Amino acid sequence: MLKKELFKKYDVPAPRYTSYPTVPYWSGEGFSVQRWEETVGRTFTETNKEAIGLYIHLPFCESLCTFCGCNRRITKNHAVEVPYIERLLQEWSTYLELWGAKPRIKELHLGGGTPTFFSPDNLHQLISAILSESEIADEPEFGFEAHPNNTTVEHLSVLYDLGFRRFSLGVQDLDPVVQETINRIQPYEKVESVTRAAREIGYSSINFDLVYGLPRQKLSSIWNTVTEVNKLRPDRIAFYSYAHVPWIKGVGQRNFSESDLPLDAEKRALYEVGRELLEEAGYHEIGLDHFALEEDALYRASRNKTLHRNFMGYTTAHTKLLIGLGVSAISDSWYAFAQDDKALKTYSEAVESGRSPIVRGHILTEEDLRLRQHILNIMCQLETRFSEAETQCPRLKQGLNRLATMEKDGLVQVRGDTLRVLKEGRPFLRNICMALDARYWDRQAKTQVFSRAI
Ligand SMILES: C[S@@+](CC[C@H](N)C(=O)[O-])C[C@H]1O[C@@H](n2cnc3c(N)ncnc32)[C@H](O)[C@@H]1O
Ligand code: SF4
Repeated sequence: MLKKELFKKYDVPAPRYTSYPTVPYWSGEGFSVQRWEETVGRTFTETNKEAIGLYIHLPFCESLCTFCGCNRRITKNHAVEVPYIERLLQEWSTYLELWGAKPRIKELHLGGGTPTFFSPDNLHQLISAILSESEIADEPEFGFEAHPNNTTVEHLSVLYDLGFRRFSLGVQDLDPVVQETINRIQPYEKVESVTRAAREIGYSSINFDLVYGLPRQKLSSIWNTVTEVNKLRPDRIAFYSYAHVPWIKGVGQRNFSESDLPLDAEKRALYEVGRELLEEAGYHEIGLDHFALEEDALYRASRNKTLHRNFMGYTTAHTKLLIGLGVSAISDSWYAFAQDDKALKTYSEAVESGRSPIVRGHILTEEDLRLRQHILNIMCQLETRFSEAETQCPRLKQGLNRLATMEKDGLVQVRGDTLRVLKEGRPFLRNICMALDARYWDRQAKTQVFSRAI
């Protein structure tokens, strides 16, 4: 089948598989905050030596980018910072009470929204309060998401002194027409000055977020953006597929018309131009939509087959217990998932009154745990094996049968006890995982919940 036809055929709504089961397919069956806390206690005891991951969601941004799919709250009022930090620390204290011991933190990630919306002083207050009640694991991975327009040298220095060595800069696209369309004016010079300042301070891993498939984006905009980006040589690049989800994001994603969006083969061509330029510049493609230089830990983890994926995306840290704090944050105890309230008002009210802000979750069954590992293997290693009895389950077989068409299309190979993604199958990782996704097939989405796979 021609490449163009393949992109048309497989450009269907599909999850990004940062978890299995994916959030819309959590069953809620048997879930309660008490059950959640039991699994957190169990994993904490089992993995205390390996340490935990901590994700903190900082939702505020000063202005709305009209392509944004994140959980964010737009405000110019910085008086929101201190009360929100108080809520985060209250929520954190419930976990400290549960464990009755200091956790050892391996991975700490500040996501958003825009963490650099907060003043350096307030960020210092938040992180030092958390670290004062914790131990820090060997070779910790502390990172944050930064907006080039409001990241100051003071932000970079304060976070560096607290142990942060990596951050992700939201670059998206440098083309003025695209920037105007997505209401995000951010000249190259801003990106350049933050990158140079961070290198001088000593940051060892700088990631740029780029997005392909944005409204009014052309091959030339990607070419120019990636060429400029290559001059700054970030250690990693996340080259995300634009997720168009206006039914979730409402007015934010409706400031342009659907006809401004490149689709299937046209959209994929944008990725291919970027990929070729990045590979020429020495970057290696990793998993789904990621690139890294050979010196970067993400590349080494992908070569050594130790790459991991969680709600924060690809990571080199392998923590079984990930605690999410803040509005909409998701936590993972390996045996269960839990999500905090997405609305700031009700999240804050719950925490203030001493109630848990968790509003939903999922307890993983034995089958979920097995399929989860296969999907993780495909997303990280591009192959999975099912030779051992404990890797098998009846619905894995059904999933493998569902891959027959993709095998005919030359995207995957199933030989003996191994499922392998072929080179031609790389753009279709989300579709391949979806074939193994028993929870999805259980419910066969009646309404559209995911963005398209390409
Ligand atoms: C929380 S933002 C990054 C920090 C900061 N708020 C900023 O915009 O620079 C996380 C990243 O998600 C990506 N993102 C947001 N909305 C997206 C969408 N609809 N589709 C694909 N990627 C998206 C962007 O690349 C963005 O940099
Ligand atoms: S892309 Fe970043 S800055 Fe823009 S609205 Fe989303 S979270 Fe805020």
